[in-house]
Amino acid sequence: MEDSNLSANPSIHEVIAHSAQHPDRRQLLQGAGLLGLLALLQPLTACTTPASASPRGSLGFSGIAPGMGDKLVVPPGYIAQVLAAWGEPVGIAGQMPAFRMDGSNSAEDQALQLGMHHDGMEYFALNGASDHGLIALNHEYTDDGLLHPDGFLPMTAAKVRKSQNAHGLSVFEVRRQDAGANASWAMVRPSAYARRFTLQTPFEVSGPAAGHPLLRTAADPQGRTVLGTLNNCASSQTPWGTYLSGEENWMYYFGGGKDIHAHHQRWGLREKGLYNWEAHDARFDAARHPNEPNRFGWVVEVDPLDPTSTPVKRTALGRAAHEGAWVALTRDQRAVVYSGEDARFEYIYKFVSSARMQPGGAKANRKLLDEGTLYVARFDADGTGRWLPLVHGQGPLTAANGFTDQGEVLIKTRQASDLLGATKMDRPEWLAIDKSSRWVYCTLTNNSQRGEPGKPGVDAANPRANNTMGQIIRWLEDGDFDGATFVWNHLLLAGDPANSRAEAKGNIQGDMLGCPDGLGFSPNGLLWIQTDAHATQMYKGELERIGNNQMLACDTQTGEVRRFLTGPTNCEITGLTFTPDGRSLFINVQHPGETPTDRSDPKKPSQFSNWPDYQAGGRPRSATVVIRKADGGVIGS
Ligand code: FEO
Ligand code: CA
Ligand code: CA
Ligand code: CA
Repeated sequence: MEDSNLSANPSIHEVIAHSAQHPDRRQLLQGAGLLGLLALLQPLTACTTPASASPRGSLGFSGIAPGMGDKLVVPPGYIAQVLAAWGEPVGIAGQMPAFRMDGSNSAEDQALQLGMHHDGMEYFALNGASDHGLIALNHEYTDDGLLHPDGFLPMTAAKVRKSQNAHGLSVFEVRRQDAGANASWAMVRPSAYARRFTLQTPFEVSGPAAGHPLLRTAADPQGRTVLGTLNNCASSQTPWGTYLSGEENWMYYFGGGKDIHAHHQRWGLREKGLYNWEAHDARFDAARHPNEPNRFGWVVEVDPLDPTSTPVKRTALGRAAHEGAWVALTRDQRAVVYSGEDARFEYIYKFVSSARMQPGGAKANRKLLDEGTLYVARFDADGTGRWLPLVHGQGPLTAANGFTDQGEVLIKTRQASDLLGATKMDRPEWLAIDKSSRWVYCTLTNNSQRGEPGKPGVDAANPRANNTMGQIIRWLEDGDFDGATFVWNHLLLAGDPANSRAEAKGNIQGDMLGCPDGLGFSPNGLLWIQTDAHATQMYKGELERIGNNQMLACDTQTGEVRRFLTGPTNCEITGLTFTPDGRSLFINVQHPGETPTDRSDPKKPSQFSNWPDYQAGGRPRSATVVIRKADGGVIGS
């Protein structure tokens, strides 16, 4: 997460904020007009009269206590199994180097093994099976203190290559043996599907910005092929069977980023990158290669079912610090892609495709996300909202304001959104689309700078100053998913009711949580929420009683939230995907033992956590965990 929105952009919210700054719904109702009242009442109506007849699950498990200690906990009657940790060979035939616990695997080994810091993840059923499929998985970033035997410094060319190979994506095959209490999942190795995508993997650039002068570099004068993807955070699965992943905090990977392009400053590029890559890989030195940063910040699409497919960067969806991207279909089968960027005071977007989805899977829809209209969201204080088109030549998006063509609008999506007066949000993370009620949900994880002097104040959608806890916002489009306007409200404001500061209490019905991040619906219609409080925030102050990061389920019909899983010390829980039968759930434990600086001390690699191996002298590892009910039942039921 970063914070570089310095635009004055005093939207309507800041003006109205004075009358709508009270966070709880009752008070918001008092300040809202009739439209707002309708908006607040509508979700209950919508949820109790779902558009489809799919069965809605209720919370059938026993909630667990807040997590403490270096262990993963699930409710009674559930079994959690570690499936795929950092460093496990992904399963490429004849190239399966074993993980070495001392960090001594080479860069070449790492390119054949699962990367670090597992994040967004999707299960792709093979032939519709719930016991045999593929997992496509992001590796968001690296802790170089754990990645190398001697840690981050001195950084060498070989260490940079290993760090780059521990980023990107993995695809691996999984199979369940047996059923009920005896069931277990395993990676299938070798597998013809097994793949790694690293900073050396060619990605095709498609859509309106492909070939744009701002995307051309010495190594790629056409501006149509980028080596690699990085800082991939959330994920989703498209209705045509591909994997979408967002390139989130790409700006931290570049050095030399000040004063090259004026527009780099709006993205927070720095003189020195966080990973020192620029010292050993010149393309990450923005002073020498000023267009290279423009080639990251896109949503990437991967077809895991075709191991020969070329991954694609979809420029029509805009360039941002994308957490991820999620697809709904209009009634006439056009793709509507929602996304947001996790940075303080940044924005929520949607893209509406021109063409309709075709039968025939990935191949038949290869160009679907290349043509259409991108919008940015404005949330108004009366409980309604509007999608503002990011279209060259419309409104202020003209050459006079620095946008020569649509490609430039897409490369500078943030700057274009500033000019349109979009609403500055409290760090949008994951989105989830309720196919039944058609409400769209988004986690806004926190924003401690909301209301600080010189920063935007509270508004109706982001109603708390010094927002340490975060909230979940939701909206229902007017008409169909391509609607120009919508109604919105908050599912919940996170917090702990025992806190003394009013803004940190929240209004959760049920188990407390802070810093919501991962989000998704299970096949039975429950909404699952995962949390990401940072090591610097946890176990003290307003988050003290909330404990380890966790996963909870919410029945959106009643609003009840119940704690389902707690992770080991200083981990984040992220990534969630279910088998089609809803009976196996895959989640990721990211960076167990995270240190306050995000970089471990190689002399004390397990000082905060030694999960999941608990080996003497070992190191903590991010890992995919699969969860089942001992009786083989539906998760959450
Ligand atoms: Fe990578 Fe916004 O979490
Ligand atoms: Ca996240
Ligand atoms: Ca987060
Ligand atoms: Ca994290």
